[in-house]
Amino acid sequence: MSVSNGRNPFAALLSLAALAVCGPAQAAGPDAATAVEPLRLCADPANLPFSSEDPARPGLYVEIGDALGKALGRPVTHVWYRTNFGKRAVRVTMLARQCDATIGLPQDSDFMGPKVIFSKPLFRLGYAIVASPEFAFAGIDSLKGRKVIVQYETTPQNMLGPREDMTTVTVLSPEEGMQKLAAGLADAAFLWGPTAGYLNASSYDGKFRITPTDGPALTWPTAVGFAKGSADLRDQVDAALPGLQATIADLLVKYGLPTAQPMKFGALSSPARVRVAAMGDGAFALAQAAPATTPGPQAAAMPAAVPPAATSAPSATNIAEGKEIFNGTCAHCHGPDGVQAEKRIDLRRLNLRYDSDMHNVYWKTVHDGRPSKGMPSWKDVFTDEQFNQIWDYLQTVQSKE
Ligand code: HEC
Repeated sequence: MSVSNGRNPFAALLSLAALAVCGPAQAAGPDAATAVEPLRLCADPANLPFSSEDPARPGLYVEIGDALGKALGRPVTHVWYRTNFGKRAVRVTMLARQCDATIGLPQDSDFMGPKVIFSKPLFRLGYAIVASPEFAFAGIDSLKGRKVIVQYETTPQNMLGPREDMTTVTVLSPEEGMQKLAAGLADAAFLWGPTAGYLNASSYDGKFRITPTDGPALTWPTAVGFAKGSADLRDQVDAALPGLQATIADLLVKYGLPTAQPMKFGALSSPARVRVAAMGDGAFALAQAAPATTPGPQAAAMPAAVPPAATSAPSATNIAEGKEIFNGTCAHCHGPDGVQAEKRIDLRRLNLRYDSDMHNVYWKTVHDGRPSKGMPSWKDVFTDEQFNQIWDYLQTVQSKE
């Protein structure tokens, strides 16, 4: 953990100077001003457009923090900590009293329970449609018959993936999505708006039009978070926020965040299949746009919409069907009848490897694939019934060891 005494020592001095001239402590003179406790803000050192250690490009949340400090008449120091691990970052920094507040937490009481309290929302963050200005995007129907880039394990992938009237191209990060879009590999991309907007402004000359969307699991309010004992500070921040609206609006533009009127999207087409992005680490990663997009601890924390494994004994027909699909498609990599010497892809070891979590892992892996590891996604190829049949077959080849 790197705790610095301020991103830029002069920034603190400057706010003190400003305070001595026009701040509320003016009457008490400079001695009193130096006694003002700095406002310590936790931020990720390398997470643009949100925050960065680089004073030349500090990021949206860092600049909002500086403006907030000024409004409260307190110098600001930044406590740097990587946010890749989601809630853990909040636990070991803010909840361990290493800082007084964190700008950019998903405003929801479910986020970390009563341990974290919030200011009023700063603004909403969400997914956005990125396309050339010539692409007449007027709603989800404009994507029909088109090729659309979606990011792995996101609401847009869940929304568009199952549709038969459009083709999705899955990418692992907004960066990759922007590259593929710029290379002409798709008509549009449905990406995390803040990152797409920032990249569009900083690396693509603003050549794409970015349309924010609004709908279930597509946007979240972001706010300033505090440890639960800091209600006084929270109230001061809430009182200062209305005066910062113009500054915040300018900063959103400066960092390229989408500011157009959001396009309303209806409820997701197949709710049963949709993984609800609860206000957990997933939402935190989004509020912070942390780069963790590969399946890992975060993905595990997101409740997957996995139907319970069938409890009744699978029928012989289902097992036979499953075996046929397996040997026709999966055996190419996983071996005929599942006989595979390489342990990593030996599906006879699922039971040993995952035990009671086996069905979860199976269901998630066959639907979404693990594109970065060479396991394709099969959800556009097979029906859930067929996935169940393959499952039934795999049960019969599990190793007892
Ligand atoms: C092109 C090769 C390929 C094909 C075809 C393929 N897989 Fe995979 N699969 C992989 C690879 C590689 C992995 C290991 C990924 C990793 O290391 O995490 C994997 C992993 C898995 C896993 C998770 C294994 C574990 O222990 O975590 C399951 C379940 C699975 N595949 C099922 C299937 C099924 C069912 C099919 C057929 C519908 C299929 N795979 C077809 C390459 C393939």
